[in-house]
Amino acid sequence: MSAAPAAGVTVRVPAKVNVQLAVGAARPDGFHDLANVFLAVSLHDEVTATPADGLTIGCTGPDADQVPLDRTNLAARAAELLAARAGLAPDVHLHIAKSIPVAGGMAGGSADGAAALLACDTLWGLDTPVEDLLDICAELGSDVPFSLVGGAALGTGRGELLTPVEAGSFHWVFAVADGGLSTPAVFREFDRLAAGRPVPAPEASPALLAALASGDADALAATLANDLQPAALSLRPQLAQTLAAGTEAGALAGLVSGSGPTTAFLVRDPEAALKVAAALEASGTCRTTRVATSPSPGAVVLP
Ligand code: C5P
Repeated sequence: MSAAPAAGVTVRVPAKVNVQLAVGAARPDGFHDLANVFLAVSLHDEVTATPADGLTIGCTGPDADQVPLDRTNLAARAAELLAARAGLAPDVHLHIAKSIPVAGGMAGGSADGAAALLACDTLWGLDTPVEDLLDICAELGSDVPFSLVGGAALGTGRGELLTPVEAGSFHWVFAVADGGLSTPAVFREFDRLAAGRPVPAPEASPALLAALASGDADALAATLANDLQPAALSLRPQLAQTLAAGTEAGALAGLVSGSGPTTAFLVRDPEAALKVAAALEASGTCRTTRVATSPSPGAVVLP
């Protein structure tokens, strides 16, 4: 009789858009204080953890060739940190089924880190308290805690200190650009553009939080704000054409998602989403589009 195949654990994890990204001055540690209103959207990666000899990573999906398969991948670092904390060897194969745009400003790498953490915790039967998982997430990166919890939240500090916020449901179109943008490069450009001017302390907008809670798409459209957008546009001026194409096609508003270069368009309903996505694709100002809804749950183990 042959041995049963080793059981794997699969975790599904959402992408995010920042409906408000208020950025303060650079801190002595190089990070920036943020008031970051995160919203999880229904674009997902899936990470499967399977017992293995040593730590290996595989990735499938249309942009799999852009995903690093070494220890720089946040999924690998998550497995290493969790194993070290538990006194185990990180003997696991992590397979990433990639659907979130790579280096796109939608926290795809962070999502894989959070998913790998939960998948390994489940595979190894550790039952680590969620507070400890969140600490490991914060060590992995500023956006990783939000990828674990999902929904809608205000992130302060460098984005890792989360307070849940209320959110009604919204419809989105994402325009995926050719190539990625480096988050550190976008923050450096923010500093360069801000040089010589006082940068106010970042604060969440009460009007935006009220619009988010109410589910009123017009009110949310009027309050969407991303302080990194001028920096992303400075590094990638063509994104202005994508933003114009989306709003001309009937989106209520458009903005750069996080550090970009993905652009996010808020639309009224599923019909408007299809219309805006088709117009964006026909405009030739983006590589492809994705339609999604929000909010979406955080990382979850699939049955
Ligand atoms: O936290 P994470 O590793 O994702 O951050 C990547 C980079 O983005 C940092 O090294 C820093 O350059 C920039 N960053 C920042 N302020 C933040 C978050 C990220 O300057 N709050």
